[in-house]
Amino acid sequence: MTENLAPLPELYVSSESAQKLKAEAADLVSWDLTPRQICDLELLMNGGFHPLKGFLSEADYHSVVEGMRLADGTLWPMPVTLDVSEDFAEKVEVGQDIALRDQEGVILATMTVSDKWVPDKAREAEKVFGADDSAHPAVNYLHTTAGRVYLGGPVVGIQPPVHYDFKARRDTPNELRARFRKLGWRRVVAFQTRNPLHRAHQELTFRAAREAQANLLIHPVVGMTKPGDVDHFTRVRCYQAVMDKYPAATTTMSLLNLAMRMAGPREAVWHGLIRRNHGCTHFIVGRDHAGPGKNSAGEDFYGPYDAQELFRAHQDEIGIEMVDFKHMVYVQERAQYEAADEIEEGATVLNISGTELRRRLREGLEVPEWFSFPEVVAELRRRYPPRAQQGFTVFFTGLSGSGKSTIANALLIKLMEMGDRPVTLLDGDVVRKHLSSELGFSKTHRDLNIQRIGFVASEITKNGGIAICAPIAPYATTRRTVREMIEHYGAFVEVHVATSLEECERRDRKGLYKMAREGKIKEFTGISDPYDEPETPELRVDTEGQDVDNCAHQVLLKLESMGLIAG
Ligand code: PPS
Repeated sequence: MTENLAPLPELYVSSESAQKLKAEAADLVSWDLTPRQICDLELLMNGGFHPLKGFLSEADYHSVVEGMRLADGTLWPMPVTLDVSEDFAEKVEVGQDIALRDQEGVILATMTVSDKWVPDKAREAEKVFGADDSAHPAVNYLHTTAGRVYLGGPVVGIQPPVHYDFKARRDTPNELRARFRKLGWRRVVAFQTRNPLHRAHQELTFRAAREAQANLLIHPVVGMTKPGDVDHFTRVRCYQAVMDKYPAATTTMSLLNLAMRMAGPREAVWHGLIRRNHGCTHFIVGRDHAGPGKNSAGEDFYGPYDAQELFRAHQDEIGIEMVDFKHMVYVQERAQYEAADEIEEGATVLNISGTELRRRLREGLEVPEWFSFPEVVAELRRRYPPRAQQGFTVFFTGLSGSGKSTIANALLIKLMEMGDRPVTLLDGDVVRKHLSSELGFSKTHRDLNIQRIGFVASEITKNGGIAICAPIAPYATTRRTVREMIEHYGAFVEVHVATSLEECERRDRKGLYKMAREGKIKEFTGISDPYDEPETPELRVDTEGQDVDNCAHQVLLKLESMGLIAG
């Protein structure tokens, strides 16, 4: 049997030992793993990170950071460390066994702590990622999310993390090796991806397989990728659609639960080792492999071919052959994809960038067939409907009695008349009756109230509905928090109902201003409590001298100009 297909050592114990260990682990100190650590642990246990036997010891960590090698000289480019809080670290002595649990408390492994140390994170960032610059997602993670203390030591695997999605598409290294053995695939070229596959990728991977005279493994990462990437549920549906485009029985697809670090050259070497462990003989490395984007000075972190160079220099040790990415472009006259360096002079080259694709999806414009497959575009359209079909939030803010609720109610009716999306009104008074009935008007309680409204509105927005909120929301910082919460899923339209305090007090419909002046109501907004005027709301409505219908119409016009409702 060729070496790439022989079974690989795993860190799991037998099922009887696992049962015993599970029972014994009840007495151990437990660490609840972070999502990234769960990804790392899965690949440690199933051999994806072979030859690692656990989270790196201090000596291995320093050696990896400084020279891309374990302390015994074995090539290993990425620190795989168990970062924990100082509080937890204080509870743990070197030599002690700890239980590693998932976020529901299910035990996955035990670890004998051989090392405990406080890393120099700035140094780690410089050496591993090339700069201590928080524009790099992994550097940002290192400084803002990772714990202050690292623990190292050998891991005993009890059970893999549970996945409920795409179970049939997830394979351990040994399962893939067994599949290749069964299929008689001796040479396998792997394609790493964190993006949907379009025609250029299909062409490139097909050519790579032909050149390497190998079968093809589409091996997308579904653990953690670059923040802002297309979610893996959508991507996997896209990949499934593309599988039919390859000649029958040449290609397979498997999902890799890796937490990427976007470390460019070092990451490429790491990806190569991981694919070797998964039984592949060849690996495609493209331009700017695992690139993190721009640094804080607006420049690329790595050169476009640094990853290929570093890979080439270590290819023999990695034990997998690199197939370097031929940048494929569409040549209009020839109606086909060709390698960028083989194009005839004067040919018309067509391209659609990622930004342009997102614009076309957002605006519901055509995505041409030469660029992608109709099935892939349909999936992306389902995930990113044009703005006029997405959820959004209209957030009214203004003094008590400014007219927020009245305009919000008129807007509600107008949007319901259109009827294309469900609409929910979260009015200040109504929310205080049902959602925040125990809250008063201190700053803490007002903030809590607004955050609850923001949470509900973000859920509505996420699920494609329209949320109209109409609280006073007097604090700018809290409004900003809510904006950030919602903009993750759709538009946030802040409408300042700018009725002056004098006018609100003159109207005094509920008699509250009079009571506030008399000191009968404490902390009353505008009288004895502050109101931060919004500086740059999407819209400011002046209610004085205008009827409600007109004010609501202004909001509708704004929504139309933002593309949120059809004209
Ligand atoms: S906040 O600050 O956003 O949490 O306020 P909100 O939830 O919108 O509640 C405002 C309504 O509560 C009544 N009310 C008060 N408002 C301001 N300050 C004090 N101290 C206060 N006490 C009671 C008032 O009727 C507000 O209703 P609107 O519709 O804004 O007039």
